[in-house]
Amino acid sequence: MKAYRVHQGGKFGEGRFDTMSREELDAGNVEVRIAYASVNYKDALTARGKAKIALKFPLVVGIDLAGVVEASADARFRKGDEVIVHSFGLGAEHDGGYAETGRFPADWVIPLPNGLSLFEASALGVAGHTAALAVDLMELNGLAPGKGKVLVNGATGGVASIAIDILSQRGYQVVAMSGKAAQAEYLKSLGASEVVGRDAFKDAGRPLESPLWAGAVDSVGGAQMSWLTRSMQRDGVIAAFGNAGGAAFEGNVLPFILRGVRLLGVNVNNPYATMARLWQRLATDLRPRHLAKIARRIRFEELESAFDDLLAARVTGRQVVDFSL
Ligand SMILES: NC(=O)c1ccc[n+]([C@@H]2O[C@H](COP(=O)([O-])OP(=O)(O)OC[C@H]3O[C@@H](n4cnc5c(N)ncnc54)[C@H](OP(=O)(O)O)[C@@H]3O)[C@@H](O)[C@H]2O)c1
Repeated sequence: MKAYRVHQGGKFGEGRFDTMSREELDAGNVEVRIAYASVNYKDALTARGKAKIALKFPLVVGIDLAGVVEASADARFRKGDEVIVHSFGLGAEHDGGYAETGRFPADWVIPLPNGLSLFEASALGVAGHTAALAVDLMELNGLAPGKGKVLVNGATGGVASIAIDILSQRGYQVVAMSGKAAQAEYLKSLGASEVVGRDAFKDAGRPLESPLWAGAVDSVGGAQMSWLTRSMQRDGVIAAFGNAGGAAFEGNVLPFILRGVRLLGVNVNNPYATMARLWQRLATDLRPRHLAKIARRIRFEELESAFDDLLAARVTGRQVVDFSL
């Protein structure tokens, strides 16, 4: 079968198109015919050997997938069931989504919730799951519509596009911050009420800046994160999950001790029960309305250009490998 694997080589591995036999796949008691697998920033880093993500070689790249059970030795799943698989080391220490078939432990496999198609589940993938977790955590920590504006940076990115969609359908006033001026209409069509450029943040370098945001969804990290911590309103919440603009950020404690700012770490690798709960929410009250605009189907053979476009920040929304194309 065809696969995209990363092999030993370079600093952190070298990705390439491959053919492999099913026998080579990592073990698992549920075998899935993969229909779709999305392209995530982390996949691009793995495939292009830009970060230490692959923990074994060779490794089928791809941190999420949606497909149909072909065979199961676990009573919870039967041939023909539609399922989603991500996290638990997928695409890092266990063969992932960029192959026609995969084998996974049943404890990792999420039944496709009613209300989502397999394509929609893949269009959401780890990005949608991260966006849902960010909103879930922010609301648990006091964010509510009417408290003020919510900034979403790296706005045209996969996680951010879905976050804008979810937040706007929940009644939040969303400000999208993006480096792609040409995508302002796209961002507004997802529900952003304002679109500002990456250079719009006015960082005077003060310990506290003017309070602007009740919430912030941060894909970017670095200097933007530093400014965000200092420009939140009283009790503002930041969901931090990305480092597209840098891992390190400078800060001081005044926003936390004088404004009660809450900095929430968002990590998509959660216990199964949390993942299943969030997938239910993604199919119901957090269901994005504009996935058809956000996600684009690509052929398997287009993977490498998809990685390079993602690393160069040329992509808007999500790219999904459709194995039937
Ligand atoms: N913590 C977790 O569990 C978790 C889960 C999923 C993703 N992530 C991380 O979250 C981030 C976003 O993931 P994604 O899949 O949405 O990636 P993505 O689709 O590549 O989106 C990232 C966006 O960030 C902006 N950006 C890129 N380079 C930048 C730079 N140098 N400075 C400022 N902004 C920049 C771009 O948006 P604009 O051009 O619109 O500004 C880009 O579209 C990544 O760092 C990823 O590794 C973490």
